Amino acid sequence: MERTFIMIKPDGIQRRIMGEVISRIENKGFKILRAKLFKPSKSLIEEHYQEHREKEFFHELIDYISGESVMIMEVEGESAVEVMRLMIGNKDPKLAAPGTIRGDFSNEKTQNVIHGSDSIENANREISLWF
Ligand code: TYD
Ligand code: MG
Repeated sequence: MERTFIMIKPDGIQRRIMGEVISRIENKGFKILRAKLFKPSKSLIEEHYQEHREKEFFHELIDYISGESVMIMEVEGESAVEVMRLMIGNKDPKLAAPGTIRGDFSNEKTQNVIHGSDSIENANREISLWF
């Protein structure tokens, strides 16, 4: 069974759609192995998004998550990485299809409800980093 790292971002917590997101994950047949609701340190968020540190949106992204609560989850199931990315939807609001989490709940580039690992390698890295 494959495992992936999922984070409900601050806008998802503040808008009280955490339960909706968790329901979608469970309804799909995935199992939540571990979960935690907390305020991560700025250094942890920076480490998580280190691949984007040179991008122009990096500081906006880090500032949006810093000091706010997120819910992190280790999610297990068949093809968990790829299937969760499908359920999450595209990062570009214009390409996030209705029926996906971003497509249904966000029209923003930065505040887009949820993160999911984009590869098995990154899933392992992120699970070790956050748990
Ligand atoms: P990215 O890894 O490209 O997307 P995904 O979350 O789908 O893996 O980008 C990471 C996060 O950075 C993305 O969820 C939101 C934020 N971001 C911006 O704020 N502005 C942007 O132009 C991009 C591309 C991303
Ligand atoms: Mg990414």
